[in-house]
Formats: sequence, structure tokens, C-alpha cells
Amino acid sequence: MANNVVLLGAQWGDEGKGKIVDLLTERADAVARFQGGHNAGHTLVIGGQKTVLHLIPSGAMRPGVDCLIGNGVVVNIEQLLKEIDNLKSMDIEIENRLMLSMACPIILPHHIALDLAREKAKGKKAIGTTGRGIGPCYEDKVARRGLRLGDLFNAKLFAEKLREVMDYHNHALVQYFKQQAVDYQQTLDSIMPLVERLRPMIGDVSERIYNLRQNNKSVMFEGAQGMLLDVDHGTYPYVTSSNTVAAAAAIGTGIGPLELDHVLGVVKAYTTRVGSGPFPTELFDEVGQWLGEKGHEFGATTGRPRRCGWLDAVALKRTRQVSGLNALCVTKLDVMDGLEVVKICTSYQYKGESITLPPYGADALGECTPVYETMPGWKEVTAGVRDYESLPTNAKKYLGRISELIGLPIDIVSTGAERDDTMVLKHPFINQG
Ligand code: GDP
Ligand code: IMO
Ligand code: MG
Repeated sequence: MANNVVLLGAQWGDEGKGKIVDLLTERADAVARFQGGHNAGHTLVIGGQKTVLHLIPSGAMRPGVDCLIGNGVVVNIEQLLKEIDNLKSMDIEIENRLMLSMACPIILPHHIALDLAREKAKGKKAIGTTGRGIGPCYEDKVARRGLRLGDLFNAKLFAEKLREVMDYHNHALVQYFKQQAVDYQQTLDSIMPLVERLRPMIGDVSERIYNLRQNNKSVMFEGAQGMLLDVDHGTYPYVTSSNTVAAAAAIGTGIGPLELDHVLGVVKAYTTRVGSGPFPTELFDEVGQWLGEKGHEFGATTGRPRRCGWLDAVALKRTRQVSGLNALCVTKLDVMDGLEVVKICTSYQYKGESITLPPYGADALGECTPVYETMPGWKEVTAGVRDYESLPTNAKKYLGRISELIGLPIDIVSTGAERDDTMVLKHPFINQG
């Protein structure tokens, strides 16, 4: 039975989505990205070799798998070609199986300049963006002045639209932010020579996915970021500028919502966050530091240290609700090996009341105090364990409690960065429907 499976980050990103997409794609025909851009950093480790993908879907390492970039993704052309060339240097041919939607917004140099200028102007209130121009590019899309991949094929019109939009933004950059203007001619000259190479890769992703479905093929929809970074449902304004929830998979590729068969939420066994914004279960003690060191918690895109804390079942309940999750995949269980006790946040204290769903927005969430349930940890090593029954009893109890609190089965457990350090109890491409 062919399936369309959506895989999402259930927390603040970096849950290990890339690893799981790569693994599950052994049974898929295509992988599609549907939102975000190269703010994402998805790490794959195969046979000891590490690859970090930012824009190219994590099906790249599976030779027969098509890689699709839907209209919801904002594309930095130079980054795209850099990643393609990098894969080529590893003998991975991607150009002939990569398709980008002609409706993808293009990230331009002024978007990056604006992203950086805004962050600088915000000072202490900065969002801590990746500085990749993601927010300003989405703004241009919604403001209906953005340039899209399809625009590249009419050089004259492209040049005209580019001048107009750059005049507009350079005004803000110079007059309001007191920064340097971005040079129009230089921008145009850096893009136009790349068009011929891009041309064969740009197409109709909506039609492609529709046809795959008609032919009983399976597609993996690869989320970027995580639910709590969703522009509507996350910790606004400390969010990214796209929707990261399951429904975005339909809009961001151009298929109907009922074509999505299964939604898998990827959850780190604890919680991390990069950038600013509220994080109720954040740890400022040696346990937090320990998780960061043992879990190598540094951003795959910017190298910034990730903030670490306990698992937050309150936030995960919201993820389950807004994305209609069917099952969970728990990653990085091994990082918790050796802890005396493990904790799960089961409710928040907010304005003198106990609540079990997070309030909307950063201000309210910032006023929430976590209430924990404490469980004994495990001394045994789970790192590299590939058989569920071999897990320590207390690790199984921890997983069982997570499943119980969120009300979802845990179909996959990951115990290491390596592709095969994974227990697939139920494979989304075989067992559904
Ligand atoms: P993504 O953005 O969700 O794809 O996640 P990242 O790649 O940014 O961050 C996840 C990090 O954890 C990467 O360095 C992975 O190699 C690593 N990783 C993934 N799963 C596991 C696991 O189960 N155990 C350990 N120790 N590391 C893991
Ligand atoms: P993956 O796909 C973790 C965070 C940034 C910042 C906020 C807004 O690897 O899980 P942006 O540049 O998007 O405007 O930044 O979002 N952020 C991520 N955090 N993982 C990511 O992607 C992220 N992409 C953006 O740190 O707080
Ligand atoms: Mg990441």
C-alpha cells in the first residue's frame, strides 16, 4: 500500500528528522520538502560518514529516490548549487532526480541584509534567527512582490521586478536601518549565469506528486524546524516565518489535505532550542550542560550551542493536536544514559492555575512554570541498541510514560546518530492502511 507520510519536528527543531527521513526512505519513491529553507540543518550519518543537508531533501542518499522541493520552500540558489556540488563530490548524483517548484520564492541578498539588520536593531529582543534571509523572503511572498523560480525564465521581466523590489528594500536598509544598500547590478549578475543550469530542475511539483499518487508510489514529506517554531502555533514572535505543522505539507507542495495518510512526529528524548524565546523546561544546571555535551547539541546550520532541558509533554500535546499526529519517533534516547533521574513536564503553573496545554504566544508561555514527574534513570548503555526488548527496563518505562502522556504509540526509537542505530517497531510505509 502506497502512502504519503508526513514527518515533522514535534519540538523546537533538531529532533533528528533528517536521520529518520533518510532511514524510512528505503521504502519511499520520493521525498519532498514543503516549507522553510536553508535555515534547516538535517544531519545524516551513514557508515560513519556525516552529511548535513540544508535545502536538499534527506532522500538524497538513496539513489532511486526523487527529491522534490515544493512551493512552500524558500530557495537560496547559490546554496542549492553548493549542496548539489557537494553531493556530487561524494559521488551522489542528484541533479537528474531533483525537482523544484517554479513557485518557490527566491531568497535574494537583500533578504539576508534585512534579516541581519532587523536582528541588530532589535538588540536584546532579537529572535536569534539563522541570518539566512528566511523571514524577509516569506514577507515578500505574502506581500506579493517576491520573485519566484519561474520568474527566472523571463530575463527582462525578472530584471524589472528585481529593480523594483530592491529599490523598495534598499530604502529601508539605508534610511531606517542605517545599513549599506545591496547593489542591484551585482545581484542580477550573480543570478543570471546560473539560470541555464537550474532550468532542467524547475518544474511542476504539484503535478509530479499527484502523478506519483496515481501510480501507487509513496512520498515522504520532510518537515523542517519544529512545531513550536510554527508562525501561527509556536512561541510567537520567537518563531520561524513558515507553518511547520502537518497541514503545511499539503499547501507547500500543492496536494489536497486528504492525500496525507500518516503523520509522524519526531521527538528528542529531552528538549533543545536554538535562538531566543521562552523554553519552560530549560535547564541551567549541570544536567543541562551534560545533555548539551553528550548530545553534541550545537546547531547544524549556525554552530550555536543549543539550549537543553527536560521533555515537555505539555508542548507535545499541542503538537499532537495541531498536526494530528498518528505516532511518535523518539530520538537520542542514548544521550540520557547514566542520569540518576529523568523528568517529564506534565503540566504548567500559569497565573495560579494548573494547565496541560501551552498557552499561545511567547509572553504567556514565558510566565509558565513547569511541573515535573520524576522517574528513575538507567545506568545501562542504550547507545547503539537496535532491539527494543534489550533496552533497560527504566528506559522502556520512560518511553512508555511518554507514550501514555501524549496518547500516541512510539513507532520508532533512535539510539545513535548512525542510520542503523534505530528500532523501527512499525514502519510508516508498510504498516498503515
Ligand atoms: P534535524 O534538524 O531534526 O534533522 O536534526 P539535526 O541534524 O539538526 O540534529 C540532530 C543531531 O543529533 C545530529 O547531529 C544527528 O546526527 C544526531 N542524532 C540523531 N539521532 C540521534 C540519536 O538517536 N542519538 C544520538 N546520540 N544522536 C542522534
Ligand atoms: P531544523 O530543520 C532549530 C530557529 C532559529 C530562530 C528561529 C527563527 O534543522 O530543525 P529563522 O532563521 O528561521 O528566521 O530563525 O528559528 N530555527 C531553527 N532551530 N532547527 C531548525 O531547523 C531551525 N530553523 C530555524 O534558531 O530561533
Ligand atoms: Mg537541524
